[in-house]
Amino acid sequence: FKLPAIDNEPMKHYAPGSEERKKLQEALEAMRAEGPLEVPVVINGEKIFTGRTAQQFNPSEHNKAVCTFHEADASLIKKSIEGAMAAKARWESLPFNDRVAVFLKAADLLSSKYRYKIMASTMLGQGKNIWQAEIDAAAELCDFWRFNCKYAEEMYHIQPPKNAFGTWNRTEYRALDGFVLAVSPFNFTAIGGNLPSAPALMGNVVLWKPSPSAVLSNYLVYELLVEAGLPPGVIQFVPGPAEEVCAAAIGHPEFSSLHYTGSTAVFRKLWKDIGNNIEKYTSYPRVVGETGGKNYHLLHPSLDEQGVRHAALQTIRGSFEFQGQKCSACSRAYIPQSLYPTYRKFLLEEHAKIKQGPSHEFENFMGPVINRFAFDKIKGFINHAQADENCQILAGGKCDDSTGYFIEPTIIVSKDPMTKTLTDEIFGPVVTLYVYEDSQFEETCKLIQNTTEYGLTGAFFAKDRESIVKGSNLLRHTAGNFYINDKCTGAVVGQQPFGGGRGSGTNDKAGSWSLLVRFVSTRSIKENF
Ligand code: ALA
Repeated sequence: FKLPAIDNEPMKHYAPGSEERKKLQEALEAMRAEGPLEVPVVINGEKIFTGRTAQQFNPSEHNKAVCTFHEADASLIKKSIEGAMAAKARWESLPFNDRVAVFLKAADLLSSKYRYKIMASTMLGQGKNIWQAEIDAAAELCDFWRFNCKYAEEMYHIQPPKNAFGTWNRTEYRALDGFVLAVSPFNFTAIGGNLPSAPALMGNVVLWKPSPSAVLSNYLVYELLVEAGLPPGVIQFVPGPAEEVCAAAIGHPEFSSLHYTGSTAVFRKLWKDIGNNIEKYTSYPRVVGETGGKNYHLLHPSLDEQGVRHAALQTIRGSFEFQGQKCSACSRAYIPQSLYPTYRKFLLEEHAKIKQGPSHEFENFMGPVINRFAFDKIKGFINHAQADENCQILAGGKCDDSTGYFIEPTIIVSKDPMTKTLTDEIFGPVVTLYVYEDSQFEETCKLIQNTTEYGLTGAFFAKDRESIVKGSNLLRHTAGNFYINDKCTGAVVGQQPFGGGRGSGTNDKAGSWSLLVRFVSTRSIKENF
């Protein structure tokens, strides 16, 4: 048995007048006309309308709910664990190709039948524009499902290279002993899909708690997985209050892994909770998390004018695509004094071209931030910069929540390398520039590393090989995903495995075998003939 050839999902272009553009428009209109979908908890294949509900709102029009979702409580979490553990034996003993079939079929269903619907739910529910929705909810999710299968197949083939005469040694990649808790974020529908799917592919059973700001798209992904053949109980869909759901799952003796993407603070709290329960567990849990970032662009004095123009455009894209709400987004840029006037000119020219508005209107490059909490937090950072005498707002800065949570793309320049907008994660459309003396390049690399606790992504722009090598070495521990002459966002599954170290996570690399290996517990077998 060998998997079919795997490649990245081809991206659609949505040219005006194209069939794909028309279909997406229809999906958006249908979803807006239908009004909020009622989303249940799903346990053992049974839809449970618990009656305890919350709503997810359209961040472009915050008076419109996109779904009303029923929430699980501690007793339903207990029931979902029991159901998952009952489904486990059959699922983990299925031949690998039968598990693979579910995820390959899911990718094909997304590519062909549900692309526009799931994109529409991501645009209306999470504020993504057409291009960001295509990259995330269509292409990246297909890629995760397909490439995980490929990486797992390769991993299963890694076997001990030696057998003494009369023996046969082999490695069995067993599922973990208990269940996995997947806690997913609002900002990528693809990450929502991947967090439960990657462990499930490896034979595990999973409780999936989606973000309250992404329940709609995540539920449609869940339904798609069921249509693709996911058996009842293998992934339990359990939206609900984070603390209650996580405490009930982490407090259970069969808890065997956390697969998490979200804030650093919550990840640390969950890890502590796991530590506090450690004596209860059947086995030591695997803790896998991707958290915050304070990602940077650094320009080297060697750049020529074309290089500076390119770097400026990449800063606009890296900082403001999806309103800066990617864990990878650029949030600080370091520019040598000699290049600053040129960089500033190109940056402001590009900034002036940005169109912002409701995310379902196709001409908008930027939409709203996700919710009230994010709006207030980001506005607080802008206010702080406005009040800081070392900071100047070069562009943007206005915040308008009259209809949706709109924050202008904001460029700050600071004379103080330790001002708050250069040190803290903002998770919004705000980038702060710091201008360094050309002679201080090495010190600036150290500054970049020492300014924050994070290490997720970074981009280095330089002209010649010698400078590239020098910068790459000096910046070695600043980023798990390091880009040379490209923006610090937009890792592609199968091309740049994604994740960061230091305060940014366990760096297990989504879209790679090194993530999948965390969800297996190896058995070494020696047989004498
Ligand atoms: N994987 C996403 C990116 O690289 C977060 O931008």
